[in-house]
Amino acid sequence: MSRRKPVIAANWKMHKNRDEALQFIYSVNMEVPGREYVDAVIFAQAPVLRDLVKRQGDHLDIGAQNMHEKTEGAFTGEISAALLSNIGVSYVLIGHSERREHFNETDASVNRKLHQAFRYELQPLLCVGESLKTRQAGKTQSFVRSQVERALEGLSKEQVAELVIAYEPIWAIGTGETATVEQAEAAIRGIRETLAELYDAAVADNTRILYGGSVKKENIDDLLAEETIDGALVGGASRSPDNFLYMCEAAYKAKSP
Ligand code: PGA
Repeated sequence: MSRRKPVIAANWKMHKNRDEALQFIYSVNMEVPGREYVDAVIFAQAPVLRDLVKRQGDHLDIGAQNMHEKTEGAFTGEISAALLSNIGVSYVLIGHSERREHFNETDASVNRKLHQAFRYELQPLLCVGESLKTRQAGKTQSFVRSQVERALEGLSKEQVAELVIAYEPIWAIGTGETATVEQAEAAIRGIRETLAELYDAAVADNTRILYGGSVKKENIDDLLAEETIDGALVGGASRSPDNFLYMCEAAYKAKSP
């Protein structure tokens, strides 16, 4: 049994209108296991965040899918950490591979965003993961290690212990092709080793690390059975309340003391 509280995070990406988002919240917010057992988080599009926060109930947390690294200023179309925090959002996704690929996010900007998220007491969920080409070249471990090292530059041990990290191999995202439990376990073990070297064994042991990439009802139990995997960041399958609840229950069963 794990000492680390599991996290089930739904990344809705650019899906669901306001009615659909609220409907989802109403159908799950009384049903998810309590906060003491599982952190259940919904990452939704920015315009519905406030509505979701108001109705999140006692068991859910709401997160943004992105934020800007600066506090305020002439950045048309961007979202500030200050405003997210001000409207009661508690989590923020940082460095999702779709943001890295389509919106030019780099390890350096990911690092600045992490610092900014902590400044505004948002709980960051940092995403890392390799492309198929990198995996085929046998460079997964060194690539992910370097992403982690650069993302965490200048963060204190206390901050990193608060962080949630998701290992999401890009080739497994939205493709239906999940990493095997062994591949996920090996990458996550590598991240813990990096944390141990950068900080210490306690940080490596206490930081929650999730797997993401085509997680669904059919494979979540096997992933959660692995001691080092603390939960999942789920895209497509998280848009159905039934699936989301199943995954939260699975995390409760697999990880509760
Ligand atoms: P997926 O997405 O579950 O649809 O593969 C995961 C993610 O992008 O976080």
